[in-house]
Amino acid sequence: MRIEQPAEMTHAAMLGLGVHRPERVVTNDEICEVLDSTDEWIQTRSGIRTRRFAGEDETLIGMSVSAARKALAAAGVDAAQLGCVIVATSTHPEHTPASAPQVANALGSTAAAFDVSAGCAGFCHALNLASAMVRSGAEQHVLVVGVEQLSRFMDPTDRGTAFIFADGAGAVVVGAADEDGIGPAAWGSDGSQAHVITQTPSCLGGHASGEGADHPVVQMEGTAVFRWAPFAMAEVAHEALKRAGVAIDDLDAFIPHQANLRITQTLARNIQLPESVAVATDVVDSGNTSAASVPLAMEAMLRKGEASVGDTALLIAFGAGLSYAGQVVTLPPLG
Ligand SMILES: CC(C)(COP(=O)(O)OP(=O)(O)OC[C@H]1O[C@@H](n2cnc3c(N)ncnc32)[C@H](O)[C@@H]1OP(=O)(O)O)[C@@H](O)C(=O)NCCC(=O)NCCS
Repeated sequence: MRIEQPAEMTHAAMLGLGVHRPERVVTNDEICEVLDSTDEWIQTRSGIRTRRFAGEDETLIGMSVSAARKALAAAGVDAAQLGCVIVATSTHPEHTPASAPQVANALGSTAAAFDVSAGCAGFCHALNLASAMVRSGAEQHVLVVGVEQLSRFMDPTDRGTAFIFADGAGAVVVGAADEDGIGPAAWGSDGSQAHVITQTPSCLGGHASGEGADHPVVQMEGTAVFRWAPFAMAEVAHEALKRAGVAIDDLDAFIPHQANLRITQTLARNIQLPESVAVATDVVDSGNTSAASVPLAMEAMLRKGEASVGDTALLIAFGAGLSYAGQVVTLPPLG
């Protein structure tokens, strides 16, 4: 028996981008009301000046839907046209059911829908899946959402995490295009460092340390991340450029995961990024929003005029797992 498959490969690109930034802006001084730290220390070590925390009425699903609606509008695509919805997140409160079917339902879609758990690298993983689906002809339009509500999963007294992580959502619609707008991913993992970023306790129980930790909170060996990311990701950056056949001088923008401004700056140096390439610095205003950080940083660059629709950008994301993924993309229109 012969199994049929779509015969033609097509080109895939991001057709539209939308974000949801929570209303509430949280300053370092507010963080330091509970955390034993200072505004100056936080800015010097991480670059972060403010971040946003979701309010009572801003749920993970709600933020995803808000970002997705803007992405669909920018793409000129109706929710009914979606063939798949992928949500990258580490902070959906339940393992089951996944968040993506609820996001699809709220949008009025019955598309295939599932979550991706790849920590801060989740959005770039999901983008690679969506691109492959569209290029193969398996689906016409795929919605990719990166969303986090890390403020719910932090110990506000933990000096290693409380000032870093934050909330938000970003979404893109991936669909067929005249030219490829999403390059092949350079991706991989290093599970030997699984212990470096964890949720503690696991779902099997136990007790987390720290105030108010009656449910899992993120814990991180920050120095280990710092020793790894700016060096390992430099190789991934060059691999993504090579796979896409794009020279580093041809980049308009560099949009790495917004982990920490010092990691971004060290990584840019290690890549030997030309001065002409604009570098995303959304971490300064938004903190580290994990799987949401790359689409939020894309939006910030487009909104501020630091990059333009149609520009060529290198995305690199890395985090818990440890997992990483990077690809060269063409920047999409903003909703
Ligand atoms: C978390 C991070 C900012 C800590 O910075 P660091 O330079 O490694 O700091 P260290 O943990 O070595 O601590 C240095 C000093 O600051 C102190 N310190 C640590 N956290 C502090 C805080 N929040 N406020 C004030 N002082 C702090 C330490 O006690 C130590 O003091 P000492 O020198 O007197 O012993 C840094 O490791 C980092 O950004 N790592 C990457 C994290 C990240 O971005 N992860 C994203 C995951 S995707």
